[in-house]
Amino acid sequence: MKKIALMTAGGDCAGLNSVIKAVVMAAIKKGIVVVGVLDGYIGFVEKRYIVLDRNNVNDIETTGGTILGSSNKECPFHYPNEEDPTKFEDKVPSGIRALKKLGVEGMIIIGGDGTLDSARVIHEAGMPVVGIPKTIDNDMVASNPTIGFETALENAVDAIRKLKTTAYSHRRIIVVEMMGRTSGYLTLYGGVAAGADIILLPEVDYDLDVVCDKVKEIMQSGKRYVIIAASEAAKERGKSASVSRILKDSFEQTRYGGIADKLSKQIEEKTGYESRPMVLGHIQRGGEPCVSDIILGARLGDYALNLIADDRSGYIVGAHEGGLKKMEFPKVRTARLLDLETNDVYRVAKDMGICFGN
Ligand code: F6P
Repeated sequence: MKKIALMTAGGDCAGLNSVIKAVVMAAIKKGIVVVGVLDGYIGFVEKRYIVLDRNNVNDIETTGGTILGSSNKECPFHYPNEEDPTKFEDKVPSGIRALKKLGVEGMIIIGGDGTLDSARVIHEAGMPVVGIPKTIDNDMVASNPTIGFETALENAVDAIRKLKTTAYSHRRIIVVEMMGRTSGYLTLYGGVAAGADIILLPEVDYDLDVVCDKVKEIMQSGKRYVIIAASEAAKERGKSASVSRILKDSFEQTRYGGIADKLSKQIEEKTGYESRPMVLGHIQRGGEPCVSDIILGARLGDYALNLIADDRSGYIVGAHEGGLKKMEFPKVRTARLLDLETNDVYRVAKDMGICFGN
């Protein structure tokens, strides 16, 4: 293999630039040219590329985001038509043709499970692909942890610690809305590490009265504040999760959001304690990667490059206890949710008296 293409797709996270550097440096050593596809699947469809050399990747491993850019919605086989965006078309064959014309023989695509499903489609359409999983949600079967999760945790914990001092001063309840879609990893691990009093997960439907009673109990016990870590897709028993927007042309169309605002108003009304919402949002995805994401990114980037250079493709690489593994692209996407029966952080949290609203 003499030339490959490298792309970051889906929501960004910290650690992507470490993957890019590892791929480019290992490729240079093997005499392989790396073409970077810009802005994820938008650049794939619009055929926008740059050639990556060592000058492009100097010191990038310590920086956040992705130097290639990304897009968190476009799906290349269901792509909005230029003239009539209500109609969709398959742009995979023309995207592959353009890359092959440049001499590209294989691709490494870094993405979440939605974008890696498009990677599978590209692979099946005739361009050999190796996928690398990344997401702050940590909800992929292919890797545990995923690139970006540890940094997002650090970001969230840092933010919650800051919220605690202001909540203390003002004797307030703060409802912190955390990302993660339908998976509670970020909220559970972040909530426990930051010392939250109540944690609301998508995997456990909560009862509003239980949450309010716990708030009253904590405030009456002499503690001056309550921190509630609420997952963006957590929901009250018998109700649906709060949705902030639907993106029609996106692979994952639902964007969750609104629980902090709604719940903090309900708590203030029902308990009489002053309450404030705080949406952590994209702060969790931003900033410099922590060391473990730099290392994980480099390990998976190097593994992917070695596979593709060896003409082995059709895999997603990932980290697991015991080392790196590869698996074939799954036909059906299954999010890896928290398994509350076996997750020991959940058990520890319950032993410590953290309330899950149930
Ligand atoms: O999947 C990663 C993620 O950050 C989710 O936790 C969040 O729900 C979503 O992406 C936000 O998407 P966007 O970047 O489109 O706002």
